[in-house]
Amino acid sequence: MRTLEASSSCIVWNFIFIIWMVIIISSLVGSSTSSVCEFEGMFNFGDSNSDTGGFYSAFPPQVSPYGKTYFKKPVGRASDGRLIVDFLAQALGLPFLSPYLQSIGSDYRHGANFANSASTVIPPTASLFVSGLSPFYLGIQLRQMEQFKARVGDLFNQQKIRFGANLPSPDIFGKSIYTIYIGQNDFTSKLAYGGINALRGYIPQIISQIDATIKELYLQGGRTFLVFNLGPIGCYPGYMVEIYHESSDVDEFGCVVSHNNVVYEYNKLLQETLTQTRGSLKGASLIYVDTHSTLLKLFQYPTTYGFKYSTKACCGHGGGDHNFNPKILCGNLAASACHDPQNYVSWDGIHLTEAANKIVTRTILNGSIFHPPFPLHIHCDLEPIDD
Ligand SMILES: *[C@@H]1O[C@H](CO)[C@@H](O)[C@H](O)[C@H]1NC(C)=O
Repeated sequence: MRTLEASSSCIVWNFIFIIWMVIIISSLVGSSTSSVCEFEGMFNFGDSNSDTGGFYSAFPPQVSPYGKTYFKKPVGRASDGRLIVDFLAQALGLPFLSPYLQSIGSDYRHGANFANSASTVIPPTASLFVSGLSPFYLGIQLRQMEQFKARVGDLFNQQKIRFGANLPSPDIFGKSIYTIYIGQNDFTSKLAYGGINALRGYIPQIISQIDATIKELYLQGGRTFLVFNLGPIGCYPGYMVEIYHESSDVDEFGCVVSHNNVVYEYNKLLQETLTQTRGSLKGASLIYVDTHSTLLKLFQYPTTYGFKYSTKACCGHGGGDHNFNPKILCGNLAASACHDPQNYVSWDGIHLTEAANKIVTRTILNGSIFHPPFPLHIHCDLEPIDD
């Protein structure tokens, strides 16, 4: 009788313990689901605007003062700190994307970055050392993605993907955001060498290649695409110095009117093309991201957004209106960086400062530049990017 009583009280205590465990566990699960994201990864394609170190993994390393604000050393990003894709990854609760070409220390469990500085959509016709353009153009980046996916599938089938392998599971491809941010180097190289009319002839070709890439990624399993448009390059200090324009072709904001007008033509065709393609990609979200509208505001009304300078580079040489000298670029020993990059929109004349990248990302996260609307916060509990 005593034994029976003891064992029944033991059962009661076990029962209470189990209930208690269930409460603890469900509260833990509850708190983690509150910061859970539908997107398990990100795959990015692009140029220096979104390269997190690919170019400098393949070629000689980047030099100071790149990276000085956030990373405190050069990390292969064309800025003083984080890029838009970095802030986006942070907001989605993902680690910074490892470059596909980085063989040391990479972690691909939440995606990969195929972007490469100086890369174009249209294949370059000469070597990097002749053309200044990266051999890793968009078509190569797509092949690399296919290779990545095939390798992940093979290794998974051979049961070689284990904890610590730094690879994702093969179902990540349908649960990821695909970002595409490319075209600036096609645009500026054609504009610099052939002028506006020559550039116009290439625009349909550039955009149809971007479009074909999205369709291919869809066939590979991609379902969520963010396609960034082209910034107002007529306001970028470096291009203002490097690309010929009449002195009368500058507006009240200090931007080259005719160059910015072709950007509008380019972006309009990109948006129309994506609108067409959207209808043929069943079950996919294909979003045109109007980074141009945010950037134009930053360049035209810098003080409204907390900046002092927009058409003048922080890092460069020569001072003056643009602080840009194509022979003494940022990184050259004779060049120098400002001490207050948070007051500048342009980091080195061609690329944005971390401060500008952060504001662009905010307009992405609050949905104000997505076409059509895409409520990111419904798919994902967004983490703050304030630090
Ligand atoms: C989105 O964020 C930007 C930058 O912080 C801000 O200027 C804009 O007013 C915001 N828009 C909305 C709809 O919240």
